[in-house]
Amino acid sequence: MSEVKKLAVIGAGQMGGGIAQVAAQAGIEAVVFDSFADSIERCKALRAKLLSRAVEKGRMTAEEAEAASMRISYTQSIDEIAGADWVVEAIVEEKAVKFDLFKTLAKMFPDESVVLASNTSSISITEIATSAGGAASRVVGMHFFNPVPVMKLVEVIRGMQTADSVVERTLALAERLGKTPLAANDRPGFVSNRVLMPLINEAFYALMEGVAEPEAIDGIMQLGCNHPMGPLRLADFIGLDTCVNIMNVLYEGLGNPKYAPCPLLRQYVAAGRLGDKTGAGVYEHRNK
Ligand code: CAA
Ligand code: NAD
Repeated sequence: MSEVKKLAVIGAGQMGGGIAQVAAQAGIEAVVFDSFADSIERCKALRAKLLSRAVEKGRMTAEEAEAASMRISYTQSIDEIAGADWVVEAIVEEKAVKFDLFKTLAKMFPDESVVLASNTSSISITEIATSAGGAASRVVGMHFFNPVPVMKLVEVIRGMQTADSVVERTLALAERLGKTPLAANDRPGFVSNRVLMPLINEAFYALMEGVAEPEAIDGIMQLGCNHPMGPLRLADFIGLDTCVNIMNVLYEGLGNPKYAPCPLLRQYVAAGRLGDKTGAGVYEHRNK
């Protein structure tokens, strides 16, 4: 199987932009599709800032940063991702939206060598694959971590229909991107969010019940457990909408009320306070 040359990334959000950046840094052409112009503009600006920061820090030369930047293109037309030999989906964490997209992708990419990967945090890869019909064996979970340029892990998830060769190629691509891939089975939340998200949800219960102020909840977990960010700060960083969606997948998929999203977490989302990406969540981020 030939090396990946052109990667299509669907979704220009925090994760899609990061995935395109690491691909471009590894010499792979990346085309980023998003249906919203403002997402694309934000993505371009952030990537330019992070690449110039990498030059300032001596992690790459100005020429390497320029070459990486030139390898990324952006489009609002899904037709322009045709010709890609690998697709990574990184759109909103909602089943129905992902299922629709994979139905379209299966039609757009009849070539059996093209892998259709999802960066989903929690949704069943088997169900996503089923929505891709005849392309089900080419659907795999390729779960990057935020911020993608910094975090080493890619959690690789095999759906019930995923071909062995697709899993092997996914592990190889993750390594080519400078990541450490680790395999997990297709259960709600896989390993990472089965363990992380209930911790975050519990921190919202602690806040709702007045156990401590947000800064104290986060400080206790940072200083007492050596977490780089406290759970509320991390929830803002991930996106509170994504946290609710992941908890809902755990709740529905495992059928245990202990996974129900905390009412306070849901309330932040209802108020449009989604975290860093909207400028406010548990904390204010507007001037940062
Ligand atoms: N994108 C790219 N790079 C970023 C970044 C971003 N959004 N935010 C920070 N960085 C880089 C900085 O540029 C910096 O590198 P340089 O100093 O070389 O420029 C480096 O990360 C360290 O940043 P800072 O010094 O500003 O701050 P820090 O030391 O506190 O580190 C952090 C920031 C790496 C984000 C750290 O706080 C951390 O590891 N936080 C926890 C992150 C985490 O748990 N991620 C997983 C979330 S769960 C998930 O992703 C799965 C899911 O499905 C929800
Ligand atoms: P985000 O909200 O930052 O970005 C999502 C992007 O998808 C937006 O730019 C939006 O315009 C675009 N989009 C939505 N529907 C679309 C569609 N139908 N077609 C094209 N574009 C569409 O979200 P994110 O944080 O980047 O998360 C994306 C995916 O990655 C989710 O599945 C999430 O669970 C997963 N993930 C998130 C994190 C995290 O920490 N945020 C970590 C790992 C995985």
